[in-house]
Amino acid sequence: MSKFNLSAVEGLLARQITAGLMLAGCMLLASFSVSAANLVIYGASGNIGSKIVAEALSRGHKVTGVSRKPESLTITNPNFKAVKGDVTDLNSMLEIIPGADAVIMSIRGNGADNSAEEEVDNKASLTYIAAAKKLGSKAPRVLQVGNQATLYRNGVQGLKSGKYEEGTAFYGRVMAHQLVLNNYQAVPGLKWTVLSPSGGIAAGKRTGKYRIGGDDVLTDESGKETGISQEDFAVAFIDEVEHPKAIGKRIGIGY
Ligand SMILES: NC(=O)c1ccc[n+]([C@@H]2O[C@H](COP(=O)([O-])OP(=O)(O)OC[C@H]3O[C@@H](n4cnc5c(N)ncnc54)[C@H](OP(=O)(O)O)[C@@H]3O)[C@@H](O)[C@H]2O)c1
Repeated sequence: MSKFNLSAVEGLLARQITAGLMLAGCMLLASFSVSAANLVIYGASGNIGSKIVAEALSRGHKVTGVSRKPESLTITNPNFKAVKGDVTDLNSMLEIIPGADAVIMSIRGNGADNSAEEEVDNKASLTYIAAAKKLGSKAPRVLQVGNQATLYRNGVQGLKSGKYEEGTAFYGRVMAHQLVLNNYQAVPGLKWTVLSPSGGIAAGKRTGKYRIGGDDVLTDESGKETGISQEDFAVAFIDEVEHPKAIGKRIGIGY
């Protein structure tokens, strides 16, 4: 091999080593920022929200759990703190969310008239949108728990399947999830993600496995809806926090 060719090989090697070192540096930085995430979680006292809190803490994230009764949040992990807040109160939200990497909402509650407009999920999304407008580019992204009734089965949306009776508290709650999607979709550039359980969701096991779907309910090979455990739903939730793939989207989470 001539001297000229040897230098070329050495130069190539040097560039490859430099590129490798830069990539390793970037990966270290990325994993540092993931492990240092600051999460504000509304609904930390709830069925699904408490599983999301547990999953986030198990991965070393810092969690601010928000509740109207923060004394009910008795988690002793040093990375957890409880604060008082109402997800429908703009001033309260503006005191709590600045500086967070993500705001998580796993909430529910009917308004006085059972309407979807007065349901807490709908009001929370509108409060977040108002807060994000005030905070501008510093607004943390939002991830909200959705509902399987907004998903489709054989081309028919759950909400329109005849299963839900208008005027009932249940109808108000599920219809509110459609309003949440409408609210977020109407604001260009908003950093939102809605994660809907794909079918039923109940307390169960953490397997660490799940599939991500779109607007259609996920089914197994026999066509049966798979559903998801609250624990694995929480895994999917924190995976999306750590590795954002669905900003500006609704996704379904099932087996
Ligand atoms: N198959 C499905 O698609 C499916 C099934 C179940 C649930 N979900 C959805 O999952 C979400 C969570 O349901 P869940 O059963 O886990 O709820 P949950 O156990 O009833 O908990 C509700 C939470 O909402 C919080 N909350 C209510 N109003 C609030 C307010 N004004 N300000 C702050 N926090 C408020 C409560 O916090 P504090 O009382 O501590 O303030 C509580 O932690 C809901 O959106 C629900 O529709 C979907």
